Amino acid sequence: MSSLTRRQLLVLGATGAGAIVVGGAGLWWTTTGGPRLTGGADLIQPETLVSRDGVLELDLIAAPARIEVGGREAFVQAFNDSLPGPTLHVAPGDTIGVAMHNQLRTPTNLHVHGLHVSSEGNGDNPFVSIDPDESFDYEFALPADHPPGTYWYHPHRHGHVAEQVGAGLYGAIIVEDPEPVAVTRERVMVISDLTLDASGNLAEVNQMQQMVGREGELVLVNGQFRPQITAAPGERERWRIVNACPSRYLRLQLAGQQVRLFSRDLGRLPTPEEVTEVIIAPGNRIELLVEATEGSSALVAAPVDRGGMGAMMGGAMMGDNEPGNDEPIRLLTLEVSGAPATRLAPVSRGPALRDLRKEPVVATRTVDFAMGMAGGMGGDRPMMGGGGRDEATTMMTFTINGQEFDPDRTDISVATGTVEQWTLTNSSPMDHPVHLHVWPMQIIDDGDRELSEPRWQDVVNVPAFGNVKVLIAFDDFPGRTVYHCHILDHEDQGMMGTVEAR
Ligand code: C2O
Ligand code: CU
Ligand code: CU
Repeated sequence: MSSLTRRQLLVLGATGAGAIVVGGAGLWWTTTGGPRLTGGADLIQPETLVSRDGVLELDLIAAPARIEVGGREAFVQAFNDSLPGPTLHVAPGDTIGVAMHNQLRTPTNLHVHGLHVSSEGNGDNPFVSIDPDESFDYEFALPADHPPGTYWYHPHRHGHVAEQVGAGLYGAIIVEDPEPVAVTRERVMVISDLTLDASGNLAEVNQMQQMVGREGELVLVNGQFRPQITAAPGERERWRIVNACPSRYLRLQLAGQQVRLFSRDLGRLPTPEEVTEVIIAPGNRIELLVEATEGSSALVAAPVDRGGMGAMMGGAMMGDNEPGNDEPIRLLTLEVSGAPATRLAPVSRGPALRDLRKEPVVATRTVDFAMGMAGGMGGDRPMMGGGGRDEATTMMTFTINGQEFDPDRTDISVATGTVEQWTLTNSSPMDHPVHLHVWPMQIIDDGDRELSEPRWQDVVNVPAFGNVKVLIAFDDFPGRTVYHCHILDHEDQGMMGTVEAR
């Protein structure tokens, strides 16, 4: 839990989070005479581990690691000494066995984000804690009808999630398509951000950065600084993109290329949709189909306004440096040249998506995500609401339905085999990307409008002061698990609840 004095809050309101994020040693490292980073290396694919005869067995060692970023030495934390960790490639019906070893100095555990698997026992159990120098054997059994797509794994030990994911602990998971998709090649792109100090160590993250959600100043693709890829005109690439940043939203654009959205989080769209940009929140994945067109194009992350603390501090103090107000960030370069490739067959249609609006809803709930003041300023009233008493005890709270996370309390009980409608409300001035484990959500109202087509995601952005309606089918997998804000600093500070399916 973070405790902030009123003075710190005022500073935050006046200068904005962005200014703080780029301050300190890191700024020196990237812009003012410090060692420069070099980009332009070929994009490297993480090692891929493929299941055989329905089984993928592997060891994952979470440990401090020395890697190279843009020609500079960096000291991070990684799985199996590589950033990102290995890509796990499995088919529906497979079992993944992971012997997870903790060689960090903090407790950890493992979560397979987006996989529809049991949360019981040594399954995808977010309540497991693995102490330093301990190991734990996980087993994730995918049902035979598991949706294909791009998923990912990362630690989920409450209180250490932002720190460990922000330090480099993540990797991609691919669940195979039932039928091959006509593309020239596929690439995995795990996007992450971190801030390094002058000696290549991870920069300290202060309480204010944690309150807003840390954004690293280097945005990397597969751990690389501005890599490049090459293709021939007419080739079709499938990019599997993971937003592994602890808090950063990505507005992805690739000008000069024909880009279609193939998948969002899970499964695939019945027909790929032409897009000029896609916004993905932390935890989201997309798959893009890129029809390579001659020339040089940059994949950029343009700014996203995800709100900020300014509104809570009163209009007069709002800075314009809140998260997302920066320049577009170049992530990688695509060079398309050479002899045109022979045309590929068109991409076939996918199956129609399940539409829960046609199924009976047995329960409706409201789940409210809030930020407020506790301690000295009393309750979770809006900040600046009541006269401050003792500055030193003023604290920021991150709550769901008024409560901070308690692993021993069950917040929501659901019956397996039923469909529920949840209204996700946000009474705070920042967006919260809401994630539910095990069961994906069908968004029926995204805050702006009711959606006409079925749209499925496992992380759903709930805009500042907005609300979103989702339907959830608790078809199977009785057990307890969690839902939370995927701004991982918010989750660590309490914005997480428990759900039990019986
Ligand atoms: Cu990607 Cu509960 O997390
Ligand atoms: Cu998850
Ligand atoms: Cu949040």
